Amino acid sequence: MIDKIKEHIAEVEKFTTKAKEDIENFRIKYLGKKGLLKEFFAEFKNVPNEQKKEFGQIVNQLQKAAQEKVNALKEVLENNVEEKSVYGDLTRPAEPIEIGARHPISLVKNQITDIFSRIGFNVSEGPEIEDDWHNFTALNLPEYHPARDMQDTFFIQTNPDILLRTHTSSVQVRYMENNQPPIRTISPGRVYRNEVISARSHCFFHQIEGLYIDKDVSFADLKQTLQHFTKEMFGKSKIRLRPSYFPFTEPSAEIDVYWGLETETDHKITKGTGWLEIGGCGMVDPNVLTNCGIDPEEYSGFAFGVGIDRIAMLLHQIGDIRLLSENDVRFLAQFKSAL
Ligand code: PHE
Repeated sequence: MIDKIKEHIAEVEKFTTKAKEDIENFRIKYLGKKGLLKEFFAEFKNVPNEQKKEFGQIVNQLQKAAQEKVNALKEVLENNVEEKSVYGDLTRPAEPIEIGARHPISLVKNQITDIFSRIGFNVSEGPEIEDDWHNFTALNLPEYHPARDMQDTFFIQTNPDILLRTHTSSVQVRYMENNQPPIRTISPGRVYRNEVISARSHCFFHQIEGLYIDKDVSFADLKQTLQHFTKEMFGKSKIRLRPSYFPFTEPSAEIDVYWGLETETDHKITKGTGWLEIGGCGMVDPNVLTNCGIDPEEYSGFAFGVGIDRIAMLLHQIGDIRLLSENDVRFLAQFKSAL
């Protein structure tokens, strides 16, 4: 008898099926009202006393094995059913797609590029690692010129002729060397200066410089172009050109836009004046034209440079320039809906 039950245990353990009816039949066979277990328990009273203990244990073992098998098979079956119905439900919403965001620097750069493209400027780019000629000498800044100090340059230690460009005017030199007027080009890019990092300044930032060279270009053209730009960019056309000095332009000016003082960030960024300095400009110095192979007797032109980071900070109310290079996704994700 005991051997017979042991055979059943082995059989129960081996048993497997995926069909619902087979599981039910299996359950009825062992655990049902008239099942084998009922029979074995009924047999208990006929078992000789000295075998009762062993018999009881083995029947319990069979009951446990049968119950566990039924539970396990049912679970597999239920999971399968669930999996199938999930796969088959075509009305189920899809997994959400994570949409990336453009960096605020790119947003502003694209906006500026668009504005100038619409009035006939093309885009030119150049290397971030420059030589002395394109960053300084060609731009009327010969060696030992005191104005070189204004630029806080990072030099390559082993070769003072190689440096990280301090402005994208270097790209304009390259462009003039390779193209004859009329020239209308803007040069966006990253530039480097050895400045102390704070909420307002960083050792690298982004610029867009513009260059216009043709016959009879005047300072009035420069002013109109800048006014058009600020109107398109900020919806504000109140600008101020403050006399300034750059070795590569004469006359030179700083460009201020009247921004207003509506928010705390406005105060912070404009130092409480409401005026924001966005860059520099001027009429290209005849020496620069000559250095780049353009005849200053025939042509004249203007150039300007604006800082992208500062404009981005203003437009998107960013209070600290360092946020722009820290790549914190909580910051970047906020630009998802911006174009
Ligand atoms: N290159 C200047 C700077 O980075 C900006 C500038 C560009 C000024 C063109 C005048 C004309 O400071």
